[in-house]
Amino acid sequence: MLYKRSSALFKEAQNVIPGGVNSPVRAFSAVGGTPIFAKSAKGAYVYDEDGNRFIDYINSWGPMLLGHAFPPVVDAVIEKAKQGTSFGMPTTIETEIAELAVSMVPNIDKIRFVNSGTEACMSAIRLARGFTKRDKIIKFAGCYHGHSDSFLIAAGSGAVTFGTPNSPGVTKGTAKDTLLATFNDLKNVKELVTSNKDEIAAIIIEPVAGNMGCIPPLEGFLEGLRALCDAHNILLIFDEVMTGFRLAKGGAQELKGVDADIVCFGKVVGGGLPVGAFAARNEIMNFLAPIGPVYQAGTLSGNPLAMAAGLAMLKTINADKGLMNRLAEKTKYLHNGIADALNKNNVTHTINRVGSMISVHFSEDAVVDFDSAAKGNNETFKKFFHGMLDKGIYIAPSAFETWFITDALSYEDLNETIAAVEEIAKDL
Ligand SMILES: Cc1ncc(COP(=O)(O)O)c(C=O)c1O
Repeated sequence: MLYKRSSALFKEAQNVIPGGVNSPVRAFSAVGGTPIFAKSAKGAYVYDEDGNRFIDYINSWGPMLLGHAFPPVVDAVIEKAKQGTSFGMPTTIETEIAELAVSMVPNIDKIRFVNSGTEACMSAIRLARGFTKRDKIIKFAGCYHGHSDSFLIAAGSGAVTFGTPNSPGVTKGTAKDTLLATFNDLKNVKELVTSNKDEIAAIIIEPVAGNMGCIPPLEGFLEGLRALCDAHNILLIFDEVMTGFRLAKGGAQELKGVDADIVCFGKVVGGGLPVGAFAARNEIMNFLAPIGPVYQAGTLSGNPLAMAAGLAMLKTINADKGLMNRLAEKTKYLHNGIADALNKNNVTHTINRVGSMISVHFSEDAVVDFDSAAKGNNETFKKFFHGMLDKGIYIAPSAFETWFITDALSYEDLNETIAAVEEIAKDL
């Protein structure tokens, strides 16, 4: 495949945009080569500026659960735009989408809309701190909750040591309030809680991790966190920015049968427009301004175009009773096909899958946390990535990402993908 125009466009972009991109992973730094510039997309396919067509397994990093340019979303946005694009005043569509979201997701009474997943998680943490009157939080290595300061933290050297900033610009003062735990290791979390008694406001987790590949919680892990939080008056925050409205209409809470205290959303909830949200029961949400003391705001929050896209998306998900099963079946089919193709060629691998999230790790060990995810062979991944790209299959340009399966994918698309893997596997 030729990427001539994308290469030229990337060079031009680098003159005026840091690294040529508005979000680092798009730059292909982890895999090398030139990022392809998207021109348009429809259904399961994205088309680049060189005229190449790709079967898309990134899907804008998750939002496009129903495929690109999904007609009900596009129509809703166009109709709304004709009536004005932003008012900074309450609108009925905000209440409509809030009512629908509250009816779909277990255990929440109120929801507030923001503009990104980052904002949702950042606001959830502030709310948890205000509500509990405690400062520290526990997050898990390898889980990503957006780029706000509290989350850009690397591990300290033990349960009583503070985390350290993992980006310049994050202060030591902020880092000291974030403690890092190991995903799927309840004992480790208990130690952190015990050695920081009555100081932890919240434990925040991706209930099914998607930012170190797809990593399911081991049996009893989420239940253990729930019990630990209950015993120590800590709020459990599920970051469902990836999993919300994807793994079930009520997200991972519904799928796993574990209640969180605060839930964060992004991606699917905006149908491809910039939307995030956080939600909880009344007791917690009533702590927010203007009725409570915790401040949180946004000029474009609840923007009518964004709400129209999100509402069209949620309505479709809510009405389509077969959707989640269909997605899970397609993902399972892909899993089996890829596993067979790699096995036939003796390529060492592990595949993780939950619902419509799946990741291929070039490692023989089970991938259950950040350390085991990091053991994957990155050189093999790079070859795999570029091989797939050249065959018209667009997967995330990093070994630490989940693939997002969309309902727009046909079984022909899946077969084409599996055939591509079989070809590439011969040279891995
Ligand atoms: C689980 C999770 N939380 C939060 C975020 C941040 O969302 P956004 O990129 O919309 O700020 C992401 C983004 O990928 C995510 O995967």
